[in-house]
Parts: sequence; structure tokens; C-alpha cells
Amino acid sequence: MRIGVAKEIKPQEYRVALTPAGARELVQRGHEVVVEAGAGTGSQFPDTDYLANGARIASVDEVWESAELLLKVKEPIESEYGRLREGLVLFTYLHIAADEPLTRALADSGVAAVAYETVETDDRRLPLLAPMSEVAGRLAPQAGAHYLERPKGGRGLLLGGVAGVAPGKVVVIGGGIVGYNAAVIALGLGAQVTILERSIDRMRHLEEVLHGRVTLLMSTTLQIESSTADADLVIGAVLIPGALAPKLLTREMVAGMKDGSVFCDVAIDQGGCAETSHATTHDDPVYDVDGVTHYCVANMPGAVPITSTKALTNVTLPYVEAIADQGLAEAVVRDKALAHGINVLDGRITYEAVAEAHGLEYTPLEDVLGSTV
Ligand SMILES: NC(=O)c1ccc[n+]([C@@H]2O[C@H](COP(=O)([O-])OP(=O)(O)OC[C@H]3O[C@@H](n4cnc5c(N)ncnc54)[C@H](O)[C@@H]3O)[C@@H](O)[C@H]2O)c1
Repeated sequence: MRIGVAKEIKPQEYRVALTPAGARELVQRGHEVVVEAGAGTGSQFPDTDYLANGARIASVDEVWESAELLLKVKEPIESEYGRLREGLVLFTYLHIAADEPLTRALADSGVAAVAYETVETDDRRLPLLAPMSEVAGRLAPQAGAHYLERPKGGRGLLLGGVAGVAPGKVVVIGGGIVGYNAAVIALGLGAQVTILERSIDRMRHLEEVLHGRVTLLMSTTLQIESSTADADLVIGAVLIPGALAPKLLTREMVAGMKDGSVFCDVAIDQGGCAETSHATTHDDPVYDVDGVTHYCVANMPGAVPITSTKALTNVTLPYVEAIADQGLAEAVVRDKALAHGINVLDGRITYEAVAEAHGLEYTPLEDVLGSTV
């Protein structure tokens, strides 16, 4: 199969959908890899690395026009809609439940749109989202530590303390993938860490894997109020699958936090878990509410493209190989997780939540596969 790798053109997006190592794997399996000139530059992969591993470098037009399977990181933006076409399989993050124009563009074009974020295993894991949660979780205490520094508007506190001086207090709300990774790094910095969770089973697991080094507390309104009032850094890491994040931190709770403390709302891509949260960008990452620095960057992994690109391609490559080796129709029959990834096929919306979100007709994947692929 001819696999194209497009350069990301969204502002501040430096990741690329395939590493030179991934290109070599695909070429070794007998596929052709065509990479857009400069696609890997933001992740420190020059064109020469792709060439050295068997890929071809081409123009943007050639990559889009010649590929049978096109790999990207972010969803196509408006200037790319015209490049979508029948016969092309597009594999990328799409998040189209929140993007009606793109949903319609995908359906109108006849492209097969497979979304990283909806690939879902039988035990309800989202394997192509998890690495970005790991990255964002590990970044959160780093960002928090930075904005706690006095010249950055913070309280002027070192999270790790020193001998004879108490460490800072980090409160993580939600102990999933983001929360666990945030806790690991905060512990590494020497902070005193509390995780507020709702699931007892998850808390038992965290107690075991973190060897009792964090305080695990039930996430009630009262507990959130008292823990955040005492914290130097609060990290929002909750998720209710398929829903907007619950507003667990009220405006009053934020007002009750220490002056110069930091709130890093990682859950901002689902709307944020505080009434005071709104999305920010890497260009302008923080704002102040009642003396609390809010860091609410919606695409945190974009700050560390070298790590994020490798983490992402580690998990996408097996699916890319399956689609390339078997073709999309056969690959989804063999792997139900990948089947969940197909959002739009042959002009039909095959992912129910997307159809619902836009009031469009939903067609089960089997119906489309049976008739057209
Ligand atoms: N900003 C970014 O760049 C970025 C990057 C990756 C992920 N995220 C977001 O981070 C959030 C967390 O993702 P994740 O992968 O860790 O999800 P996850 O499903 O692994 O974990 C979410 C956890 O929240 C817990 N939870 C649910 N309701 C709660 C409540 N009321 N109080 C306390 N805990 C509660 C759940 O029990 C679960 O353990 C998501 O919104 C995700 O989209 C953001």
C-alpha cells in the first residue's frame, strides 16, 4: 500500500504521524512510504532520516493525491478539506463530535475517516489516547512548578522543599492515566501528593502501585473544597467518558485557594473541571483568577513534540501495519478495536455519538461494510 505522511499545518503543531523508524518498519513489510517535505522537522526528524530508511520525500500535493492511506496527527483544517477524496483512508485524531463542518466535509468527500481517539478495546481502553494522557500528566507538575516561581507570578515556593523546609502540596483531582502520571512526577519533585478519586477500585490500584506514597481520598465536594484550599498546586485530571468534564471546582472554591497557587486544568480539552477554566494556548498559557494562576492548555503534548511523536507512533504503528497489510475492510473485521475507530465511511456517519452530536443519520459500520467495501 502507498502510505502518505502529511505535514501538520495547524498553528503550534510540531508532531508528525510517523517516525523514520516507523517508515522503515512499513517499507520492510513491502509498503511504499511517501513523506511530505519537512513533515518531521518539528520533531527533529529531517527529511534525510526518512530517505535513509526507505521513504520518499514529496510535495504536499503528491502526498495527498497519491496516498491510499494518509497518516496525520491532527484533524484536517479547512484549507485541507479539498484534498479529502473517495478511495483515501485517513488515519488521525479527528474529534469530530465537536466539529460539524469537518464531519460534513468528511462525509461529502467519500473518504474513509478513522479516528485515533475512538479506537477502543473490549475492556474500554482507548489505546491511541493513552500516550498523550501520559505526556500531559507528566507535564502538569512541571508547568505547575514553573508557575509557582515568584517571578512567574506564583507564591514563590519550591515543590520539593529542602532539608528543614516543608515540601509543597500537590492535589490531583482524578486518578486515571493523567492523574497517575502527574502524581509520579510530583512525587519525583519531592512534593507531598494527594489524589482525589471517585472509584474505590482505582484508589486501591493506585495505593498498590505507588506504594502508599500518596494520600488517596474520596472525591466529595467537601473534600475538594478543603484539599484545594490547602494546596499549592491543583491538577485537574478527571474524565467522564463521552461527556464534558464535571465542574468540580466552583468559583468560590477557587477564591478560597492560596494566593499565588497554581491550578493546572488538564481536563480542559473536555471543557475543564473548574467554573473558572477556559482553554489557553502555548503562546499565552496562563491567566489569573482571584490570585490563582490558571494553566489550561488544551494540547499540552504539543509542547514536547519529540517525546509525543515517539509515544504516539509507538501505539499507532501496529494499527497502521494492519490497515496497510490487510486493507481497511479486512483489518476492521479482524480487530474490533480498530472498527470503533471508523467515524465516517463512504459518506455515512458510522460512529453513533458523532451522528447524534450533529443530528445526522447514523449508519452502523456493518451496513456500510457489507454493501461497499
Ligand atoms: N490538556 C491536554 O493536553 C490533555 C492531554 C491528554 C488528556 N487530557 C484530558 O485529561 C483528562 C483525563 O484523562 P485520562 O486519560 O487520565 O482519563 P482516565 O479515564 O484515565 O481518568 C479519569 C479519572 O477521573 C476519575 N473521575 C471521574 N469523576 C471524578 C470525580 N468527580 N472526582 C475525581 N475523580 C473522578 C475517574 O474515576 C478516572 O479514574 C481528560 O479530560 C483528557 O481528555 C488533556
